[in-house]
Amino acid sequence: MTEASSAVTMDKIVSLCKRRGFVFPGSEIYGGLANAWDYGPMGVELKRNVKEAWWREVVRTRDDVVGLDAAILMNPSVWEASGHLSGFTDPLVECKECKHRFRSDHVESGKCPDCGGELGESRQFNLMLKTFLGAVEDTASTVFMRPETAQGMFVNFLNIQTATRKKLPFGIAQIGKSFRNEITPGNFIFRTREFEQMEMEFFAKPPEHLQPGERNDDEWHEYWVNLRFEWYLRHGIRKENLRLRVHETAELAHYAKATTDIEYLFPWGWGEMEGIANRTDFDLKKHSEHSGTRLTYFDEQSPAEEKHYHPYVIEPAVGVDRLALMFLLDAYTEEEVGGDSAGAGKGETRVVLKFHPSIAPVQVALLPLSRNEKLTPLSREVYASLIATGRWNVEYDDAQSIGRRYRRFDEVGTPFCVTVDFDSLEDNQVTIRDRDTLVQDRVAIADLASILGERLG
Ligand code: GAP
Repeated sequence: MTEASSAVTMDKIVSLCKRRGFVFPGSEIYGGLANAWDYGPMGVELKRNVKEAWWREVVRTRDDVVGLDAAILMNPSVWEASGHLSGFTDPLVECKECKHRFRSDHVESGKCPDCGGELGESRQFNLMLKTFLGAVEDTASTVFMRPETAQGMFVNFLNIQTATRKKLPFGIAQIGKSFRNEITPGNFIFRTREFEQMEMEFFAKPPEHLQPGERNDDEWHEYWVNLRFEWYLRHGIRKENLRLRVHETAELAHYAKATTDIEYLFPWGWGEMEGIANRTDFDLKKHSEHSGTRLTYFDEQSPAEEKHYHPYVIEPAVGVDRLALMFLLDAYTEEEVGGDSAGAGKGETRVVLKFHPSIAPVQVALLPLSRNEKLTPLSREVYASLIATGRWNVEYDDAQSIGRRYRRFDEVGTPFCVTVDFDSLEDNQVTIRDRDTLVQDRVAIADLASILGERLG
C-alpha cells in the first residue's frame, strides 16, 4: 500500500462530501442558494464531534469555564455598543462593466478579476444581516442576525457571575450560529453567510488588580493560544499544516490589543482557522456605558484603591464549519492498493479519510459478510452490544458486497470495520479491520468492546 502522489483538491472534497452524505448544496432542487450548504448524516456527526471535542476541553473538563446559549436576535442597542453598526464593514468595489462586487483589499490589479473592466470607488459595506420583528417592516422593528456569538457572553456577564459566584479568572463559552453578509463568500464551507461559531470569553484581572504570582492578561493570552494550538495536534491535524500568525498592529480589530490566529494550509494557501484575541476591557466598558448597567466585578482583595472594575477578556473564537473543512482536508488520503481487503481491486486507488477516532462520524461499522439470514441474528446481537456501551457511533450495513462496504466506510473515515462471517457462528469470533493499516485480526466477540475501546482511545 503506497500513498498516491495526487494532492487533495477542493473538487475532490466537495464531490466526496456529496457522494457520502457530508455536505449537500443548499436548496439544491430549486437550483440552490449561492454559498448555502446543508449537512447530511455524516456531516452532522462530524460537526457534533468537533463541537463535543471543543466543549469537552474548553468547558466540561475545567472548573473555571461555564456555558451559555444566548438568543441569536438581540436588542439592536447591543450592536451599537459593540461598534458593529458603525464599524463592522469591509471595503467594497464594484466593476463598472459586469457589476460584480469584490472586497477592495482582495483585488490586487485595480482591474475587475472577472472581466478586466474598470473598478469604481471603494466604499465601506456593513456586513450585518437585517430582518424585522413583528408585523411592521420599519426602522423601529429592525433587528440584526448576530455576526458573532461573543456579545451574548458580554451582556450576560453579570447574570452569570451572580448565578455561579465565579471568581476571576473565569470564562463563558457558547456554540451557535452567526450570520454575516460576506462580500466574497466561497471556498465551499470555508466562508459562508450563515455559519456556526464556538467562542469563549475568558475574564481576567486587569494588570493593576493582580496579586503577586497571578497571570496577567498577556500571559493568559499566551496560555490560550498554546492550549488551542495543541487541541488541533491532539485531534490529529498534521503539524506542518498549522501555524500561528500574530496580527500586525494595523490589522487589529477595533477592540483588540493583540490577536494571534491559528492558520491552516488549505489547497489555496494559508487561511485563518481561529483567532485568539486580547479584547481588554473594551466590551464590558462599552456595554456598561450604553446600557447604564455597571458590568463590573467586585474584588475585595485587589491591591488597587478602586475594588470595582471591568475585567479584561481573552477570546478564542473559531468556526465549526471551517474546522469541519480542515478535518476533511487533513484526513483525505489516496492510496494505491492491491488485494480485496482494501475494498478496491488490485492496482486501484483507495480513498480514505484518516480522521482521529474522536472526530470520525462513525467509529465502528458492523458488517455481516453478506446479507444472509443465518448471519443476521448474530450480527444484530453484536451490533446491539456495541450500541449498548454508549461509547461510539456504530453503523450496521449489510447492503452490497463487502468490498464496496469497506470502500464506503473508508471514505467516511470509519476507524474499524467488524465483520461477522460463517465461522463466527461456530467460533464466536469476528474480524476487526483497521482502516489505516488494513490489518485484519480475529477476536472473541466477548472481548470485542474492550479491544475496540483500547484501539479507539
Ligand atoms: N468574536 C470574534 C470573532 O467573531 P472572527 O475572526 O471574525 O472573530 C471567528 O471570527 C472565527 O469564526 C473565524 O476564525 C472563523 O473560523 C469563523 N468565521 C468567521 N466568519 C466566517 C464565515 N463567514 N464563514 C465561516 N466561518 C467564519
